[in-house]
Amino acid sequence: MTNFNLIPDRRKNPHGTKWTYYEKDILPMWVADMDFPAPKPILTALHKRLEHGVLGYEIPGKAIQETVAARMDYLYKWKVSPESVSVAPGIVSGFTVAARALHNAKRGIAIQTPVYNEFHEVKNNVDIPQIDIPLVKSVKKNILHYEIDWDLFEKRVKKAGIFLLCNPHNPLGIIFSRSELIRMAEICIKHKVIIVSDEIHSELLLDDHKFTPMAKISREIEKHVVTLIAPSKTFNVPGLFCGFAVIPNKELREPFEKEMQRMRLHVASMGLHAGMVAYSGKCDNWLTDLKHYLTDNRDFLVDFVTRNMPNVRTTIPAATYLGWLDFTQTEIDGSPFEFFKDKAKVALSEGKIFGKEGAGHARINFGTSRAILKEGLERMGEALGKR
Ligand SMILES: Cc1ncc(COP(=O)(O)O)c(C=O)c1O
Repeated sequence: MTNFNLIPDRRKNPHGTKWTYYEKDILPMWVADMDFPAPKPILTALHKRLEHGVLGYEIPGKAIQETVAARMDYLYKWKVSPESVSVAPGIVSGFTVAARALHNAKRGIAIQTPVYNEFHEVKNNVDIPQIDIPLVKSVKKNILHYEIDWDLFEKRVKKAGIFLLCNPHNPLGIIFSRSELIRMAEICIKHKVIIVSDEIHSELLLDDHKFTPMAKISREIEKHVVTLIAPSKTFNVPGLFCGFAVIPNKELREPFEKEMQRMRLHVASMGLHAGMVAYSGKCDNWLTDLKHYLTDNRDFLVDFVTRNMPNVRTTIPAATYLGWLDFTQTEIDGSPFEFFKDKAKVALSEGKIFGKEGAGHARINFGTSRAILKEGLERMGEALGKR
């Protein structure tokens, strides 16, 4: 069993962004990578490559496509042909390329806010309007719930050419249910909206939650979907920049691949190699242990906030290692991000970067050791108590 309580001192790596971006006295609980080393099989495979010494060009071949297709079959019984798998240098480039290739110049890109900050950049890159479809917040006993307003969804999404779905959702930790996915897909198909489904967090499931890729629901829905997946979040190798687009419909895949070519985007060989090992199944025991640890961290977070931070509200994420905290009922004036950075020496992610609904909120990264999580929360609790 992997002991996730033992983590390396990340400040010893002067190149890692999370632990070097802020001053040394600040505990970083922001950017979405974890403080755990990648699983042994990946590290061993990368060491072997390095020992060989020659790091030449590597064009992604059939083997990686077959590995990704096999993983989809293994995880979801989703049968896709290896040809429907394209390689991308990550998911942000994947959805940017998808939007560039498949947008409709007169229509926009729809996103469910508050949502991952990079979703908000696509409009600038592609030069199309962004259509926000806010998820509707409710609160019960200081626990946050977010739901789709279906009338609003249809009214807004039909103005879009592309719906960029985040499932599981960053920063809210939602896994959309099968019936919600069907309803979203039916509305999109009715209004000729292409769905780009960012499923990067789909293997980071907490408790016993299950996940269904949007495109797996039916062969009809599959025709309208670009699915984006990556081993980077799950196996904590985001700095290797390797992701995949699964696009069974040739009419969507060909323009996607053409745009990828046009942009001259390539994946480094170490990323490809890590991706192969990650999806081979050799790291799945590590992943099982990780999910238990993250579930316990999530419980620790929710318990700490509800017991020790009066008027602070929290989600109970079903997936990801990202929590979402609502400070709008506290006495914090202005940005909670600034407040905690100054007064608690804890760097969260600023809520507003996820959309205007994020004002007064912040995202917390609990992909770390229990000791660091506890220290961060205690510092925050103390700063709140002093107000
Ligand atoms: C929903 C989502 N998509 C994409 C990414 C980043 O993907 P990549 O590093 O592969 O570009 C993140 C990282 O936090 C994310 O949360």
